[in-house]
Amino acid sequence: MSSRLDQVEESATLRIADLTNELKKQGKDIISFSLGEPDFDTPKHIIDAAKKAMDSGKTHYAPSLGIPELRDAIAEKLRTENKIDVKGKDIIVTPGAKHAVFEACFGMLEEGDEAILLEPAWVSYDACIKMSGAKTVWVKSNEDGSIPEDLSSRITKKTKLIIINSPNNPSGTVLGAKDLKKVADIAVDNDLYVLSDEIYEKIIYGVKHISIGSMIPERTITINGFSKAYAMAGWRIGYITGPKEIFQKMVKVQQHTISSPTTFVQYGALEALRGPQDCVEEMRKQFEARREVVIKGFKDMGLHCPTPEGAFYAYPRVEGNSEIIAEKLLEAGVGLTPGSAFGPESNDHLRMSYASSMKDIETGLERMKKVFGGV
Ligand SMILES: Cc1ncc(COP(=O)(O)O)c(C=O)c1O
Repeated sequence: MSSRLDQVEESATLRIADLTNELKKQGKDIISFSLGEPDFDTPKHIIDAAKKAMDSGKTHYAPSLGIPELRDAIAEKLRTENKIDVKGKDIIVTPGAKHAVFEACFGMLEEGDEAILLEPAWVSYDACIKMSGAKTVWVKSNEDGSIPEDLSSRITKKTKLIIINSPNNPSGTVLGAKDLKKVADIAVDNDLYVLSDEIYEKIIYGVKHISIGSMIPERTITINGFSKAYAMAGWRIGYITGPKEIFQKMVKVQQHTISSPTTFVQYGALEALRGPQDCVEEMRKQFEARREVVIKGFKDMGLHCPTPEGAFYAYPRVEGNSEIIAEKLLEAGVGLTPGSAFGPESNDHLRMSYASSMKDIETGLERMKKVFGGV
């Protein structure tokens, strides 16, 4: 049995979702706020494009790195929106951003390497680092999500990679130009790579998303996907671009693990990029409205909960063990993710995904008030 996998935790977000489903099966009324998936259906024009592709025989293997039209469209998006100077040939289309993270880690890390993970962090980075045989070095972000002063002091001869995720899951914080410059300078000074997961780029409230790949392209691996911005989580489609030496390695991982991303799904993704974009803004606005209600709700409960600038999560601080509190909340009929899932020092937080209907959010907050108190 693989000892590498012994060190990898089962996905805590999926575990709580399973527990929630189990309780639901037993007849308990539970509203789940634990999964990071938009509740909206995929916009119709995207579905139509994929249906049309299926009907016209796009059901064979695709080129391993993705259909050329989609790779070109992604490159154009990265050039115009993110100021990353790439061409279609520099893009790998992956079955979700998650697999892209795996490809990047597996492609560049090896036994003895260290990768820096800013805490709190989405659950799968640590797993991908460990599955690649490397070690995770957790560095706690400042309370406001900014880059901590001690980041450079945590770099050793073994450090190869820093992973950043802005807007952040779970905290919703967004890294501004100053913080990104700090990371970029550290990467240059220490000859490191940066993996930038930008999957929540479009779900942002009043601040600007900046790609670190526009600052240090020769050191940045940029990952993005369609699950969040276009409500396409179940389609499993994302993408990655990065420096040539890493790209070549990731190509091998892609070819020998998935062959190619699902062919007709790629036509849906192409329509997502090339078609009308108002659906993205409509969903973003709804997330923003829900954010207001959720943040006010937590404040009314007396919890410290900074207003997130992006993504669709609220990340209140709680007193006590987040896993025990999450269980209490389940008994009260709401499923939240314990902060312990997001790093060794995050057990004093809970994550609530507000990618749920306003009605469920309002009912959920009422139920939480019974646990936390408040007006
Ligand atoms: C930060 C982050 N990156 C990547 C992913 C995975 O995205 P995908 O559905 O494209 O695999 C998620 C999903 O929750 C996420 O929160």
